[in-house]
Amino acid sequence: MTTFTIDEIVIPATIDAPDAADFIDMTTVRNEIEADTFGNRDLAYEPAELLPHWQNPYQPQTCLVARADGRIVARGTYEAPIEDDSSEAWLSVEVLPAFRGRGIGSALYERLCALCAVGGRTDLQAFAIHKATHGGAVLASPTGFGSVPLDNPETRFLLSRGFALEQVERISRLDLPVGAELLAASLDAATHAAGRYYRLVRWTGRTPDRWLDGIALLHQRMSTDAPGAGLEFTEEIWDSDRVRALDDMRDASPRTMLVIAAEHVPTGALVGFTELSVAPEAERPVDQHDTLVVKEHRGHRIGMLLKLANLQYLAETQPGHPSVLTFNAEENRPMLDVNEAIGFTAVGYAGGWKKVVAAP
Ligand SMILES: CC(C)(COP(=O)(O)OP(=O)(O)OC[C@H]1O[C@@H](n2cnc3c(N)ncnc32)[C@H](O)[C@@H]1OP(=O)(O)O)[C@@H](O)C(=O)NCCC(=O)NCCS
Repeated sequence: MTTFTIDEIVIPATIDAPDAADFIDMTTVRNEIEADTFGNRDLAYEPAELLPHWQNPYQPQTCLVARADGRIVARGTYEAPIEDDSSEAWLSVEVLPAFRGRGIGSALYERLCALCAVGGRTDLQAFAIHKATHGGAVLASPTGFGSVPLDNPETRFLLSRGFALEQVERISRLDLPVGAELLAASLDAATHAAGRYYRLVRWTGRTPDRWLDGIALLHQRMSTDAPGAGLEFTEEIWDSDRVRALDDMRDASPRTMLVIAAEHVPTGALVGFTELSVAPEAERPVDQHDTLVVKEHRGHRIGMLLKLANLQYLAETQPGHPSVLTFNAEENRPMLDVNEAIGFTAVGYAGGWKKVVAAP
């Protein structure tokens, strides 16, 4: 029988701080587990890239770790939105493959449930990347789009604890570079289709003062406008202070954020945006972050325009990365249409799971 202990780790002020060792080791464990599940290290993040997220006052998180054989072998994370009306908690339990089937995942899960009870959370939710299997039984998404392998350990773990699959997300990759001529021609076509009422603006890093309120509104809309199926997503309340806090967080990371936004020229309002998060090392993949066109302005090819323009921005300013990775709901046909047309192909799937518990 494995003896293990569970404790909450300190979130250090910096990666060089004397108390940063646990955070660094926890990140290594996270990366090892995701590499095992996903099949490569494309989802790996450096500790200095993850730390700002853990320090974000708008997104408080708790990190538990399990220790065995003198090292961290698993982690359990708890995140609960700060908005007063939120019933959600986002949980994750990850155990190194060599330490599974010994009760560590169950023990972490119980500790996370205790945090949910203390926080008054009744919608317990989790995203799990499901290791690809070839053949075998599957569990279909209730959305009618996508499925996950039924016999995988994470599926069994979640089902036996009362979670239901609510949604399947497709993880897609675009191999870079996209041919410059093809990109320019597609961009021309999308610009033409969007018409003269829309204009693109772009920046790297901090949000220009002029666009603070516009970006705040887009982030707020993003929190509920993406298809969420049966999952709960509390509407996030954004203002310029929250955008500046996000800017500060991004400044503290070695990654660079490339942002393209669409302005509706007659009103001067921002009506869409897309973000690419770029690792400092050219050999690492680029991550697609938010993309949104507000409902009132859909149907003008602005989504395509934004994404193509950001790929061009990336090629101009930070060439040499091997790929872009993106996560989309499998039922999000408008977004998948854009991505497929650009050349993204599916490389994996994640499940969105939910368990509703009685109020404590
Ligand atoms: C899912 C995951 C967290 C399970 O971790 P684990 O440490 O193997 O979990 P446990 O050992 O507590 O439980 C696994 C199974 O082993 C059984 N088990 C528990 N203690 C055991 C023991 N001492 N001996 C043998 N089996 C045991 C459990 O009953 C459980 O079966 P069940 O899932 O059918 O209930 C792990 O596979 C993992 O990290 N996967 C990748 C991340 C992920 O997908 N997480 C889930 C989404 S949050």
